[in-house]
Amino acid sequence: MPNLLFLILSNNLIEGSIPSSICNLKPLKAVSLSSNNLSGELPQECWKDLQSLEVIDLSNNHTMPGKGSHFHLVRTRLSILSLSKNSFSGNLPPNLKTVGPLRVIDLGENSFSGNLPMWMGKRLPYLEILRLRSNSFSGFIHEHHCLLHSLRILDLAHNGLSGTIPHCFGNFSGMATVDPTNPFSIIPMEIESHDFVDQVNVWITKGIELEYNGTLVFLKCIDLSHNAFSREIPTEITGLLGLSILNLSMNQLTGRIPEKIGSMQRLEVLDLSRNQLSGSIPPSISALSSLNHLNLSNNNLSGRIPSGNQLQTLPDPSIYAGNPGLCGAPLKDCATHPDIHDLDHEEDKEGWLPFFISMSIGFVVGFWSVCGSLLLKKSWRYAFFRFIDDMTIIPSVW
Ligand SMILES: *[C@@H]1O[C@H](CO)[C@@H](O)[C@H](O)[C@H]1NC(C)=O
Ligand SMILES: *[C@@H]1O[C@H](CO)[C@@H](O)[C@H](O)[C@H]1NC(C)=O
Ligand SMILES: *[C@@H]1O[C@H](CO)[C@@H](O)[C@H](O)[C@H]1NC(C)=O
Ligand SMILES: *[C@@H]1O[C@H](CO)[C@@H](O)[C@H](O)[C@H]1NC(C)=O
Repeated sequence: MPNLLFLILSNNLIEGSIPSSICNLKPLKAVSLSSNNLSGELPQECWKDLQSLEVIDLSNNHTMPGKGSHFHLVRTRLSILSLSKNSFSGNLPPNLKTVGPLRVIDLGENSFSGNLPMWMGKRLPYLEILRLRSNSFSGFIHEHHCLLHSLRILDLAHNGLSGTIPHCFGNFSGMATVDPTNPFSIIPMEIESHDFVDQVNVWITKGIELEYNGTLVFLKCIDLSHNAFSREIPTEITGLLGLSILNLSMNQLTGRIPEKIGSMQRLEVLDLSRNQLSGSIPPSISALSSLNHLNLSNNNLSGRIPSGNQLQTLPDPSIYAGNPGLCGAPLKDCATHPDIHDLDHEEDKEGWLPFFISMSIGFVVGFWSVCGSLLLKKSWRYAFFRFIDDMTIIPSVW
């Protein structure tokens, strides 16, 4: 079939390995063999002959890269690469860096390992979806990775990444805007007319374990859950005004929840559970009017849970559980909470002390400016007591 443009055989029971004769299909634009029983090694060198290829989707099979060199992907037009749920291992294929306008990389649920290479930021300027979930990547997220300006879905959950979440996360301008993005804009135009659209829907929603209620055009997501990130949540993250989902659960984050979290008005899912965050919950959190899933459990948060607005629609106490210092609805009342009671008391003291001091100063100044002057100046003293004498109503009372 030397003129074949689209090879779409997904969701079947095809077995065996992918024959290298696939590389004779020179005009091929899209290969989708996802969700089959394919196994064995991928043909290696020949992919470079497929100059028109824009989409490769081999997800949910049992294929692996050929031994020796890496799966050869020296392409200039490839836009979507999905190898998720296969048996790939080793470092990220270094030849990805020579691939041109990649917009989707989905390598989730494999056994890739090693660092996230530095070149990613510079070499993948059009990348919108990076999904590396459930692999064994380690090392840090480097500042170079913040150059992925077009990114709107970053899913690195369930890996062994560590270090800090860099401050430059605020530079993901694709997530900072609230404009809707056409989810299908990532499909090359000629392919869009074919029934590839469902497939793209799958990529976009796949990482999200929770049912997402919003419209996909707005879906912008950061999922760094189940890694070993430490230190503070960078405040810059609150500038990502378009973000709908932020999952930082199951890390070792410390410090406070950023005060300005309330400015992330699109946020629907905020999961910060299972970290070591401390301090109080910023009151601005109650301003997140789109929030429909919050989880702050198993941290070291303390003080009163902010009330009102959107938080009233989230009455499940489990979302605050495992924070011994936390009180207020929907947990127990702060008045009956021994620690918080003391805290309130201290706060009271702090609040009243300046009042008492200024009142005392006021009294002293007031008293002595009247009595002191009467004591010191004879003519004023006479005038004052004459005035008292002249008041005729008072003596009858005395
Ligand atoms: C992030 O953006 C700021 C301001 O635009 C810029 O100064 C900084 O160099 C950027 N950082 C990175 C790592 O790109
Ligand atoms: C956040 O990530 C954790 C770990 O991956 C997962 O168990 C949890 O369900 C996620 N939270 C939401 C709200 O999806
Ligand atoms: C919890 O936070 C308090 C301060 O709010 C701190 O003194 C304490 O060490 C923290 N506990 C843990 C286990 O991190
Ligand atoms: C919140 O996270 C905890 C784990 O820390 C989990 O047990 C609980 O079910 C979660 N609550 C909700 C409402 O998802």
